[in-house]
Amino acid sequence: PTVLVLNGPNLGRLGSREPDVYGSADLDALRAELTATAPAGWTIDLRQTDDEGELIGWLHEAADSGAPVILNPAAFTHYSYGLRDAAALVTKPGGTLIEVHLSNPHARETFRHTSVISGVASGVIAGFGFDSYRLALLQVVGSS
Ligand code: DQA
Repeated sequence: PTVLVLNGPNLGRLGSREPDVYGSADLDALRAELTATAPAGWTIDLRQTDDEGELIGWLHEAADSGAPVILNPAAFTHYSYGLRDAAALVTKPGGTLIEVHLSNPHARETFRHTSVISGVASGVIAGFGFDSYRLALLQVVGSS
């Protein structure tokens, strides 16, 4: 099986972007860590885009294929109803979408306290850096 690990805007700058908040490792390091965590037979398909429409298209792809999704919506978390509606297509009965964040948005600025995605996510893991993704992957693998 394939797990889609989708990352929203500015996460392509991971490693150099606000390292005090997000750490100094980049997306390639995250891909390597998740690939090492995945049991034999599982494929990690990790992608990043700054484009809302492209991210929505990837969720449509998951809705059609039934692939489980680990999603860091980044700033879209806080205001994209289009992304929310696409996430709801994935979590239609039987589908899995886990919302993840590197930081704990609730411990940060007020505008980060709202997620328009959480209400249609299967679950949310935040605040543990790359381990947020690893924990989500363990959940996906353990529940299928
Ligand atoms: C983030 C938190 C968001 O508020 C922020 O806009 C991001 C990253 C995180 O992983 O902690 O870009 O999703």
